[in-house]
Amino acid sequence: MKVQELKDAFLAHYGKPAQKVYFSPGRVNLIGEHTDYNGGHVFPCALTFGTHMLVAKNNDNVLRFHSLNLPDASKEVSLADAVKPQPGNHWCNYPLGVIAQFPKIGFELKEGYDMLFWGNVPPGAGLSSSAAIEVVAAYAFSDLLGAGITRTQMAQFGQASEHEYAGVNCGIMDQFASAWGKKDHAIYLNCDTLEFEHVPVKLEGIKVVIANTHSPHKLDSGAYNDRVAQCHEALAEINKVRPLKQLADLSEQEFHEIENHITDPVAHRRARHVVTECERTKNAVEAHKRGDIQTFGKLMCQSHVSLRDDYEVTGLHLDTLAEEAWKIDGVIGSRMTGGGFGGCTVSLVKDEAIPTFIEKVGKAYEQKTGIKADFYIAEIGDGAQTVE
Ligand code: GLA
Repeated sequence: MKVQELKDAFLAHYGKPAQKVYFSPGRVNLIGEHTDYNGGHVFPCALTFGTHMLVAKNNDNVLRFHSLNLPDASKEVSLADAVKPQPGNHWCNYPLGVIAQFPKIGFELKEGYDMLFWGNVPPGAGLSSSAAIEVVAAYAFSDLLGAGITRTQMAQFGQASEHEYAGVNCGIMDQFASAWGKKDHAIYLNCDTLEFEHVPVKLEGIKVVIANTHSPHKLDSGAYNDRVAQCHEALAEINKVRPLKQLADLSEQEFHEIENHITDPVAHRRARHVVTECERTKNAVEAHKRGDIQTFGKLMCQSHVSLRDDYEVTGLHLDTLAEEAWKIDGVIGSRMTGGGFGGCTVSLVKDEAIPTFIEKVGKAYEQKTGIKADFYIAEIGDGAQTVE
């Protein structure tokens, strides 16, 4: 929808005009999966898909949430109740959990607000539609309350909302990418120190192609939180024989020297993925910087194999899309992106191979799963912003 249509929808719903319009994007991660909450590196980019938020003050001491595209569209929460999540996993918990962070840094809400949200990140696709909602709320309320928080704090407020209001113990990657995105750049982020660098990713004759499984199997908070717990378990076992802050601090060589101390076979496999993925991510970004895109692509494929075999977050749908892509000439690399199970793959494909890629991968996928995949050529956009 265009901004004018959103403003018309705000006026129609609330009977008064919106005072401000904000936007924050979803993201696609090129490499570095399930490394963020283990202190490793990630390499995501913000998309031009995202969430718009329109807002106006009210005199009723309530927060009104209205979505143009989410089920159970409207919710009203009194300011006094904003300190706790709403029952029933309502979507308003994403922005509400962000708003609840501001009083903790001394910015109380003294007035109510009417809000309207509209997003075009396909939901459940692993492209961070929830991070886009959180970060647009963090950016908006920083402006509305005059809090002037940094983009990194906006990402942290979004992550806190996931932990406290959505019950997902996620890392910082998605919210960081949404806050700090930059057109035609990926973000090489150290998730331990939060130091980062914008790396140009305009590739000569190659596009980033996203393929959506539309799979009914989504990564739920249970399967995600289990992975986080299994990594902690591996770390605790390693800590019995050597002090270690986080799994990302081990090189592959060091891991091989102590891996037999991780007695649980599942925790062992999870740790092996994290350690090898951290190393792959560093190698991939180095290769990318020296223009060696072939090595980058090979590491993407190895990342998928490790997520399939050791981290066990892929499944038939993602595996079919990635493995069919690997067979096609002109595909530099292909892997699942985001949390896993359902969601999307990300592929680097030569321009001339894109039509064959879409046709052949799409056909093979439909034959195997009975589902039609969707393909998008990713446009890499800027992070959170004021639109009007
Ligand atoms: C989800 C989480 C991120 C990250 C990825 C996996 O998107 O929100 O923090 O852990 O999964 O890399």
